[in-house]
Amino acid sequence: MKTEFREVLIIGAGAAGLNCALHLPGREDVLVVCKGGLKESDSFLAQGGICVLHDENDAESYFEDTMRAGHYENDPDTVRCMIRHSRETIDELIAFGVRFAREENGELAYTREGAHSRPRIVFHADCTGKEITSHLLRAALGRTNIELRPDTTMVDLLFSAEGDCVGAALRDNRSGEITLVYAGNTVLATGGVGGLFPHSTNYRILTGDGVGAALAHGVAADHLDYVQFHPTTLYSRGRGRRFLISESVRGEGAQLINAAGERFVDELLPRDVVTAAIRAQMKREGSDFVRLDLRTVRGGQQTLERHFPGIVRRCRKEGYDVLNEPIPVVPAQHYFMGGVRSDLSGRTSAPHLYAVGETCCNGVHGKNRLASNSLLEALIFARRAAEDIAAGGRAKGTAQWNYTKKEVAAFLKERKKLVTRETHHESE
Ligand code: SIN
Repeated sequence: MKTEFREVLIIGAGAAGLNCALHLPGREDVLVVCKGGLKESDSFLAQGGICVLHDENDAESYFEDTMRAGHYENDPDTVRCMIRHSRETIDELIAFGVRFAREENGELAYTREGAHSRPRIVFHADCTGKEITSHLLRAALGRTNIELRPDTTMVDLLFSAEGDCVGAALRDNRSGEITLVYAGNTVLATGGVGGLFPHSTNYRILTGDGVGAALAHGVAADHLDYVQFHPTTLYSRGRGRRFLISESVRGEGAQLINAAGERFVDELLPRDVVTAAIRAQMKREGSDFVRLDLRTVRGGQQTLERHFPGIVRRCRKEGYDVLNEPIPVVPAQHYFMGGVRSDLSGRTSAPHLYAVGETCCNGVHGKNRLASNSLLEALIFARRAAEDIAAGGRAKGTAQWNYTKKEVAAFLKERKKLVTRETHHESE
Protein backbone atom coordinates (compact mmCIF):
# COMPACT_ATOMS: atom_id res chain seq x y z
CA MET A 1 0.00 0.00 0.00
CA LYS A 2 1.36 3.40 -1.01
CA THR A 3 0.86 6.72 0.75
CA GLU A 4 0.72 10.22 -0.70
CA PHE A 5 0.29 13.66 0.81
CA ARG A 6 -1.67 16.46 -0.88
CA GLU A 7 -3.02 19.80 0.16
CA VAL A 8 -6.37 19.14 -1.51
CA LEU A 9 -7.85 15.85 -2.75
CA ILE A 10 -10.88 16.15 -5.05
CA ILE A 11 -12.78 12.96 -5.75
CA GLY A 12 -14.64 13.35 -9.03
CA ALA A 13 -13.72 15.15 -12.27
CA GLY A 14 -17.09 16.43 -13.46
CA ALA A 15 -17.95 20.12 -13.67
CA ALA A 16 -18.02 20.49 -9.86
CA GLY A 17 -14.71 18.75 -9.19
CA LEU A 18 -12.91 20.56 -12.00
CA ASN A 19 -14.29 23.99 -11.14
CA CYS A 20 -13.26 23.50 -7.53
CA ALA A 21 -9.73 22.58 -8.61
CA LEU A 22 -9.52 25.54 -10.99
CA HIS A 23 -10.49 28.01 -8.26
CA LEU A 24 -7.92 26.83 -5.74
CA PRO A 25 -4.82 29.00 -5.58
CA GLY A 26 -1.89 27.86 -7.74
CA ARG A 27 0.16 27.24 -4.59
CA GLU A 28 -2.13 24.38 -3.53
CA ASP A 29 -1.00 20.92 -4.60
CA VAL A 30 -4.26 19.37 -5.87
CA LEU A 31 -5.02 15.78 -6.84
CA VAL A 32 -8.26 15.17 -8.76
CA VAL A 33 -9.23 11.54 -9.19
CA CYS A 34 -12.15 9.95 -11.00
CA LYS A 35 -13.54 6.47 -11.22
CA GLY A 36 -13.67 6.16 -15.01
CA GLY A 37 -12.05 8.10 -17.84
CA LEU A 38 -11.61 11.86 -17.55
CA LYS A 39 -14.63 12.37 -19.82
CA GLU A 40 -16.86 9.85 -18.07
CA SER A 41 -18.88 12.23 -15.93
CA ASP A 42 -22.54 13.11 -16.19
CA SER A 43 -21.51 16.73 -16.66
CA PHE A 44 -20.37 15.71 -20.15
CA LEU A 45 -23.84 14.29 -20.88
CA ALA A 46 -25.91 17.37 -19.97
CA GLN A 47 -27.81 18.41 -23.05
CA GLY A 48 -30.29 21.23 -22.46
CA GLY A 49 -28.19 24.06 -21.08
CA ILE A 50 -27.40 26.13 -18.03
CA CYS A 51 -29.70 28.67 -16.38
CA VAL A 52 -28.77 32.27 -15.89
CA LEU A 53 -30.58 35.25 -14.45
CA HIS A 54 -31.88 36.79 -17.67
CA ASP A 55 -31.98 40.33 -16.28
CA GLU A 56 -32.64 41.97 -12.91
CA ASN A 57 -36.41 41.86 -13.50
CA ASP A 58 -36.17 38.07 -13.74
CA ALA A 59 -34.81 37.54 -10.19
CA GLU A 60 -38.14 36.95 -8.42
CA SER A 61 -39.56 34.81 -11.19
CA TYR A 62 -36.42 32.63 -11.44
CA PHE A 63 -36.51 32.24 -7.64
CA GLU A 64 -40.19 31.33 -7.69
CA ASP A 65 -39.77 28.81 -10.55
CA THR A 66 -36.93 27.06 -8.68
CA MET A 67 -38.93 26.98 -5.44
CA ARG A 68 -42.17 25.81 -7.07
CA ALA A 69 -40.41 22.99 -8.95
CA GLY A 70 -38.75 22.01 -5.65
CA HIS A 71 -42.13 21.90 -3.83
CA TYR A 72 -40.90 24.81 -1.67
CA GLU A 73 -38.57 22.43 0.18
CA ASN A 74 -35.57 24.36 -1.19
CA ASP A 75 -33.36 26.43 1.06
CA PRO A 76 -34.26 30.00 0.00
CA ASP A 77 -30.84 31.46 0.88
CA THR A 78 -29.06 28.86 -1.23
CA VAL A 79 -31.40 29.47 -4.15
CA ARG A 80 -30.84 33.23 -3.94
CA CYS A 81 -27.08 32.71 -3.74
CA MET A 82 -27.15 30.57 -6.90
CA ILE A 83 -29.25 33.10 -8.81
CA ARG A 84 -27.10 36.03 -7.66
CA HIS A 85 -23.92 34.38 -8.94
CA SER A 86 -25.34 32.99 -12.18
CA ARG A 87 -24.36 35.77 -14.60
CA GLU A 88 -20.75 35.96 -13.42
CA THR A 89 -20.54 32.17 -13.76
CA ILE A 90 -21.61 32.30 -17.40
CA ASP A 91 -19.14 35.15 -18.03
CA GLU A 92 -16.40 33.08 -16.46
CA LEU A 93 -17.24 30.09 -18.66
CA ILE A 94 -17.07 32.33 -21.71
CA ALA A 95 -13.64 33.48 -20.51
CA PHE A 96 -12.62 29.79 -20.37
CA GLY A 97 -13.57 29.61 -24.07
CA VAL A 98 -17.03 28.05 -23.74
CA ARG A 99 -19.21 28.90 -26.75
CA PHE A 100 -22.93 29.48 -26.21
CA ALA A 101 -25.51 29.86 -29.00
CA ARG A 102 -25.97 33.48 -30.07
CA GLU A 103 -28.66 35.48 -31.82
CA GLU A 104 -27.82 37.13 -35.13
CA ASN A 105 -26.99 40.36 -33.27
CA GLY A 106 -24.37 38.52 -31.20
CA GLU A 107 -26.42 38.48 -27.95
CA LEU A 108 -26.69 35.19 -26.06
CA ALA A 109 -29.64 33.05 -27.23
CA TYR A 110 -31.96 31.69 -24.51
CA THR A 111 -34.03 28.52 -24.62
CA ARG A 112 -36.72 27.27 -22.28
CA GLU A 113 -37.44 24.05 -20.40
CA GLY A 114 -40.20 22.70 -18.18
CA ALA A 115 -41.41 24.80 -15.22
CA HIS A 116 -39.54 27.92 -16.37
CA SER A 117 -41.86 30.88 -16.76
CA ARG A 118 -39.55 32.40 -19.39
CA PRO A 119 -36.54 31.45 -21.54
CA ARG A 120 -33.42 31.85 -19.35
CA ILE A 121 -31.23 28.93 -20.38
CA VAL A 122 -28.07 29.44 -22.40
CA PHE A 123 -26.93 26.48 -24.45
CA HIS A 124 -24.49 25.02 -26.94
CA ALA A 125 -26.61 23.03 -29.44
CA ASP A 126 -27.70 19.91 -27.52
CA CYS A 127 -24.34 19.23 -25.88
CA THR A 128 -23.92 22.10 -23.41
CA GLY A 129 -22.40 19.88 -20.73
CA LYS A 130 -19.72 18.60 -23.07
CA GLU A 131 -18.88 22.12 -24.23
CA ILE A 132 -18.53 23.40 -20.66
CA THR A 133 -16.81 20.42 -19.08
CA SER A 134 -14.31 19.86 -21.88
CA HIS A 135 -13.15 23.47 -21.52
CA LEU A 136 -12.80 23.10 -17.75
CA LEU A 137 -10.91 19.85 -18.28
CA ARG A 138 -8.56 21.47 -20.77
CA ALA A 139 -7.90 24.32 -18.33
CA ALA A 140 -7.24 21.89 -15.48
CA LEU A 141 -4.85 19.82 -17.62
CA GLY A 142 -2.91 23.02 -18.26
CA ARG A 143 -2.39 23.83 -14.55
CA THR A 144 0.88 22.69 -13.05
CA ASN A 145 -0.56 22.45 -9.51
CA ILE A 146 -3.37 20.06 -10.54
CA GLU A 147 -2.83 16.36 -11.18
CA LEU A 148 -5.70 14.49 -12.82
CA ARG A 149 -5.81 10.76 -12.22
CA PRO A 150 -8.50 8.69 -14.00
CA ASP A 151 -9.48 5.04 -13.35
CA THR A 152 -9.21 5.54 -9.62
CA THR A 153 -11.95 4.50 -7.24
CA MET A 154 -12.43 5.91 -3.79
CA VAL A 155 -12.88 2.96 -1.50
CA ASP A 156 -13.11 4.87 1.75
CA LEU A 157 -12.63 8.19 3.45
CA LEU A 158 -9.96 8.48 6.13
CA PHE A 159 -10.69 10.17 9.45
CA SER A 160 -8.62 11.10 12.47
CA ALA A 161 -9.66 10.12 15.97
CA GLU A 162 -11.00 13.66 16.43
CA GLY A 163 -13.34 13.25 13.46
CA ASP A 164 -11.39 15.36 10.93
CA CYS A 165 -11.38 14.03 7.41
CA VAL A 166 -7.74 13.42 6.51
CA GLY A 167 -8.04 12.02 3.00
CA ALA A 168 -9.19 8.87 1.27
CA ALA A 169 -8.17 5.36 0.35
CA LEU A 170 -8.00 5.07 -3.45
CA ARG A 171 -7.82 2.01 -5.65
CA ASP A 172 -6.16 1.96 -9.06
CA ASN A 173 -8.77 0.20 -11.19
CA ARG A 174 -6.18 -1.42 -13.43
CA SER A 175 -3.58 -2.64 -10.99
CA GLY A 176 -5.85 -2.94 -7.95
CA GLU A 177 -3.21 -1.14 -5.91
CA ILE A 178 -4.41 0.88 -2.94
CA THR A 179 -3.03 4.32 -2.15
CA LEU A 180 -3.79 6.19 1.03
CA VAL A 181 -3.90 9.86 0.11
CA TYR A 182 -3.65 12.12 3.14
CA ALA A 183 -4.99 15.58 2.38
CA GLY A 184 -5.47 18.85 4.23
CA ASN A 185 -8.94 19.07 2.70
CA THR A 186 -10.96 16.48 0.82
CA VAL A 187 -13.75 17.34 -1.62
CA LEU A 188 -16.43 14.84 -2.56
CA ALA A 189 -17.59 15.44 -6.14
CA THR A 190 -18.50 11.88 -7.03
CA GLY A 191 -21.75 12.67 -8.86
CA GLY A 192 -25.06 10.91 -8.41
CA VAL A 193 -26.53 7.47 -7.94
CA GLY A 194 -27.82 6.49 -11.42
CA GLY A 195 -25.66 3.37 -11.63
CA LEU A 196 -27.75 1.87 -8.85
CA PHE A 197 -30.90 2.05 -11.03
CA PRO A 198 -31.65 -0.31 -13.92
CA HIS A 199 -32.73 2.57 -16.18
CA SER A 200 -30.86 5.84 -15.87
CA THR A 201 -29.39 8.58 -18.03
CA ASN A 202 -26.26 8.46 -15.82
CA TYR A 203 -22.99 6.68 -16.36
CA ARG A 204 -23.19 3.22 -14.81
CA ILE A 205 -20.08 3.88 -12.70
CA LEU A 206 -21.96 6.52 -10.69
CA THR A 207 -23.02 4.58 -7.64
CA GLY A 208 -23.21 7.19 -4.91
CA ASP A 209 -19.72 6.41 -3.64
CA GLY A 210 -19.30 9.80 -1.96
CA VAL A 211 -22.59 9.60 -0.11
CA GLY A 212 -21.94 5.97 0.83
CA ALA A 213 -18.52 6.67 2.29
CA ALA A 214 -19.74 9.77 4.10
CA LEU A 215 -22.64 7.91 5.63
CA ALA A 216 -20.40 5.10 6.75
CA HIS A 217 -18.50 7.64 8.86
CA GLY A 218 -21.52 9.38 10.31
CA VAL A 219 -21.26 12.49 8.12
CA ALA A 220 -24.67 14.14 7.86
CA ALA A 221 -26.70 13.49 4.71
CA ASP A 222 -30.19 14.54 3.68
CA HIS A 223 -33.08 13.38 1.51
CA LEU A 224 -31.62 10.15 0.22
CA ASP A 225 -35.03 9.37 -1.29
CA TYR A 226 -35.20 12.52 -3.44
CA VAL A 227 -34.46 11.01 -6.82
CA GLN A 228 -35.52 12.72 -10.05
CA PHE A 229 -36.78 10.84 -13.08
CA HIS A 230 -36.39 12.61 -16.40
CA PRO A 231 -39.67 12.31 -18.32
CA THR A 232 -38.20 11.73 -21.76
CA THR A 233 -35.45 9.25 -22.52
CA LEU A 234 -35.39 7.31 -25.76
CA TYR A 235 -37.13 3.98 -25.29
CA SER A 236 -34.85 1.03 -25.82
CA ARG A 237 -35.09 -2.65 -25.02
CA GLY A 238 -31.34 -2.80 -24.55
CA ARG A 239 -29.46 -2.64 -21.26
CA GLY A 240 -27.31 0.22 -20.07
CA ARG A 241 -27.51 3.97 -20.02
CA ARG A 242 -30.64 5.61 -21.42
CA PHE A 243 -30.26 8.35 -24.04
CA LEU A 244 -31.76 11.67 -22.96
CA ILE A 245 -34.17 13.57 -25.18
CA SER A 246 -33.57 17.03 -23.78
CA GLU A 247 -36.38 18.88 -22.11
CA SER A 248 -35.47 21.86 -24.27
CA VAL A 249 -36.96 19.93 -27.21
CA ARG A 250 -40.29 20.30 -25.39
CA GLY A 251 -39.36 23.87 -24.47
CA GLU A 252 -39.10 24.54 -28.20
CA GLY A 253 -42.50 22.95 -28.95
CA ALA A 254 -42.23 19.13 -29.08
CA GLN A 255 -45.43 17.42 -27.89
CA LEU A 256 -46.05 14.28 -25.86
CA ILE A 257 -48.76 12.13 -27.44
CA ASN A 258 -50.55 8.90 -26.68
CA ALA A 259 -51.12 5.91 -28.98
CA ALA A 260 -54.07 7.77 -30.59
CA GLY A 261 -51.80 10.73 -31.40
CA GLU A 262 -53.43 13.02 -28.78
CA ARG A 263 -51.67 15.21 -26.24
CA PHE A 264 -52.26 14.11 -22.64
CA VAL A 265 -50.21 16.56 -20.54
CA ASP A 266 -48.79 20.09 -20.57
CA GLU A 267 -45.21 19.23 -21.57
CA LEU A 268 -43.73 22.16 -19.64
CA LEU A 269 -44.95 21.26 -16.17
CA PRO A 270 -42.24 20.32 -13.63
CA ARG A 271 -40.42 17.04 -14.35
CA ASP A 272 -42.01 15.03 -11.56
CA VAL A 273 -45.50 16.00 -12.74
CA VAL A 274 -44.79 15.17 -16.41
CA THR A 275 -43.16 11.87 -15.39
CA ALA A 276 -46.25 10.92 -13.35
CA ALA A 277 -48.54 11.78 -16.28
CA ILE A 278 -46.45 9.65 -18.67
CA ARG A 279 -46.50 6.72 -16.27
CA ALA A 280 -50.28 6.99 -15.88
CA GLN A 281 -50.66 7.11 -19.66
CA MET A 282 -48.43 4.05 -20.12
CA LYS A 283 -50.53 2.21 -17.56
CA ARG A 284 -53.77 3.14 -19.33
CA GLU A 285 -52.37 1.94 -22.65
CA GLY A 286 -50.55 -1.09 -21.26
CA SER A 287 -47.53 0.27 -23.12
CA ASP A 288 -43.82 0.50 -22.30
CA PHE A 289 -43.56 4.05 -23.67
CA VAL A 290 -45.41 7.12 -24.93
CA ARG A 291 -44.45 9.18 -27.96
CA LEU A 292 -42.72 12.50 -28.39
CA ASP A 293 -43.46 14.38 -31.59
CA LEU A 294 -40.60 16.66 -32.60
CA ARG A 295 -42.34 17.79 -35.78
CA THR A 296 -44.09 20.52 -33.78
CA VAL A 297 -40.79 22.16 -32.74
CA ARG A 298 -40.84 25.84 -33.70
CA GLY A 299 -38.72 26.43 -36.79
CA GLY A 300 -39.11 22.76 -37.84
CA GLN A 301 -36.27 21.02 -39.57
CA GLN A 302 -33.95 24.02 -39.34
CA THR A 303 -34.26 24.25 -35.53
CA LEU A 304 -33.94 20.50 -35.13
CA GLU A 305 -30.78 20.34 -37.17
CA ARG A 306 -29.21 23.47 -35.68
CA HIS A 307 -30.23 23.20 -32.01
CA PHE A 308 -30.56 19.42 -31.60
CA PRO A 309 -28.11 17.74 -34.00
CA GLY A 310 -27.01 15.10 -31.48
CA ILE A 311 -30.59 14.03 -30.75
CA VAL A 312 -31.52 13.90 -34.45
CA ARG A 313 -28.38 11.83 -35.14
CA ARG A 314 -28.90 9.42 -32.27
CA CYS A 315 -32.57 8.85 -33.14
CA ARG A 316 -31.60 8.18 -36.76
CA LYS A 317 -29.05 5.64 -35.54
CA GLU A 318 -31.82 3.93 -33.56
CA GLY A 319 -34.05 3.85 -36.64
CA TYR A 320 -36.27 6.91 -36.03
CA ASP A 321 -36.55 9.87 -38.38
CA VAL A 322 -37.68 12.71 -36.09
CA LEU A 323 -38.64 14.81 -39.10
CA ASN A 324 -41.28 12.29 -40.13
CA GLU A 325 -42.43 10.35 -37.07
CA PRO A 326 -42.86 10.57 -33.29
CA ILE A 327 -40.25 8.74 -31.21
CA PRO A 328 -40.90 6.38 -28.25
CA VAL A 329 -39.91 7.87 -24.88
CA VAL A 330 -40.00 6.67 -21.30
CA PRO A 331 -39.01 8.22 -17.93
CA ALA A 332 -35.67 7.12 -16.42
CA GLN A 333 -33.66 7.99 -13.33
CA HIS A 334 -31.76 11.20 -13.98
CA TYR A 335 -30.68 13.18 -10.92
CA PHE A 336 -30.24 12.92 -7.17
CA MET A 337 -31.45 15.89 -5.12
CA GLY A 338 -30.39 14.32 -1.80
CA GLY A 339 -26.82 13.79 -0.69
CA VAL A 340 -24.15 14.82 1.78
CA ARG A 341 -25.42 17.81 3.72
CA SER A 342 -23.43 20.90 2.82
CA ASP A 343 -23.62 24.61 3.43
CA LEU A 344 -23.16 27.57 1.08
CA SER A 345 -19.41 26.87 1.03
CA GLY A 346 -19.69 23.14 0.49
CA ARG A 347 -18.72 22.38 4.09
CA THR A 348 -20.07 19.11 5.46
CA SER A 349 -20.58 18.14 9.08
CA ALA A 350 -17.02 16.78 9.15
CA PRO A 351 -14.08 19.21 9.39
CA HIS A 352 -11.94 19.32 6.23
CA LEU A 353 -14.51 17.38 4.20
CA TYR A 354 -16.43 19.26 1.48
CA ALA A 355 -19.18 18.02 -0.83
CA VAL A 356 -20.12 19.66 -4.13
CA GLY A 357 -22.26 18.98 -7.20
CA GLU A 358 -24.76 16.14 -7.27
CA THR A 359 -23.03 14.45 -4.32
CA CYS A 360 -24.12 17.21 -1.97
CA CYS A 361 -27.46 18.34 -0.72
CA ASN A 362 -27.26 22.07 -0.07
CA GLY A 363 -31.00 22.54 -0.40
CA VAL A 364 -30.94 24.41 -3.68
CA HIS A 365 -33.13 21.91 -5.54
CA GLY A 366 -35.64 21.04 -2.83
CA LYS A 367 -37.64 17.94 -3.67
CA ASN A 368 -37.42 18.23 -7.45
CA ARG A 369 -34.75 20.08 -9.43
CA LEU A 370 -35.70 22.77 -11.91
CA ALA A 371 -34.34 21.95 -15.37
CA SER A 372 -30.84 23.27 -16.17
CA ASN A 373 -30.09 24.32 -12.60
CA SER A 374 -27.65 21.43 -12.08
CA LEU A 375 -24.56 22.67 -13.94
CA LEU A 376 -25.05 26.13 -12.50
CA GLU A 377 -25.38 24.87 -8.94
CA ALA A 378 -22.37 22.56 -9.37
CA LEU A 379 -20.13 25.34 -10.68
CA ILE A 380 -21.11 28.00 -8.17
CA PHE A 381 -20.90 25.97 -4.99
CA ALA A 382 -17.72 24.19 -6.11
CA ARG A 383 -16.12 27.57 -6.60
CA ARG A 384 -17.32 28.68 -3.17
CA ALA A 385 -15.83 25.52 -1.64
CA ALA A 386 -12.49 26.32 -3.29
CA GLU A 387 -12.65 29.87 -1.94
CA ASP A 388 -13.42 28.55 1.54
CA ILE A 389 -10.48 26.16 1.40
CA ALA A 390 -8.21 28.93 0.14
CA ALA A 391 -9.33 31.15 3.01
CA GLY A 392 -8.32 28.52 5.56
CA GLY A 393 -11.61 26.62 5.83
CA ARG A 394 -12.46 25.14 9.13
CA ALA A 395 -9.92 25.41 11.93
CA LYS A 396 -7.36 22.74 11.34
CA GLY A 397 -7.54 19.78 13.69
CA THR A 398 -4.44 18.68 15.49
CA ALA A 399 -5.15 14.99 15.23
CA GLN A 400 -2.83 12.59 13.53
CA TRP A 401 -4.06 9.77 11.36
CA ASN A 402 -4.77 6.84 13.65
CA TYR A 403 -6.21 3.99 11.57
CA THR A 404 -4.10 0.89 11.36
CA LYS A 405 -3.53 -0.88 8.06
CA LYS A 406 -5.77 -3.66 9.39
CA GLU A 407 -8.64 -1.24 9.93
CA VAL A 408 -8.23 0.20 6.44
CA ALA A 409 -8.25 -3.34 5.01
CA ALA A 410 -11.55 -3.98 6.78
CA PHE A 411 -13.08 -0.89 5.13
CA LEU A 412 -11.82 -2.03 1.77
CA LYS A 413 -13.38 -5.46 2.15
CA GLU A 414 -16.73 -3.97 3.04
CA ARG A 415 -16.90 -1.87 -0.11
CA LYS A 416 -15.19 -4.28 -2.49
CA LYS A 417 -18.37 -5.83 -3.84
CA LEU A 418 -19.79 -2.52 -5.05
CA VAL A 419 -16.49 -1.27 -6.45
CA THR A 420 -15.69 -4.36 -8.49
CA ARG A 421 -19.25 -4.66 -9.80
CA GLU A 422 -19.57 -1.08 -11.00
CA THR A 423 -16.11 -0.18 -12.23
CA HIS A 424 -16.38 -0.63 -15.96
CA HIS A 425 -16.26 1.73 -18.90
CA GLU A 426 -18.93 2.30 -21.46
CA SER A 427 -19.07 4.19 -24.71
CA GLU A 428 -21.80 6.24 -26.34
C1 SIN B 1 -32.26 18.13 -20.37
O1 SIN B 1 -31.64 18.61 -21.31
O2 SIN B 1 -33.45 17.84 -20.41
C2 SIN B 1 -31.53 17.86 -19.10
C3 SIN B 1 -31.11 19.09 -18.46
C4 SIN B 1 -31.23 18.95 -16.98
O3 SIN B 1 -31.20 17.84 -16.45
O4 SIN B 1 -31.42 19.97 -16.32
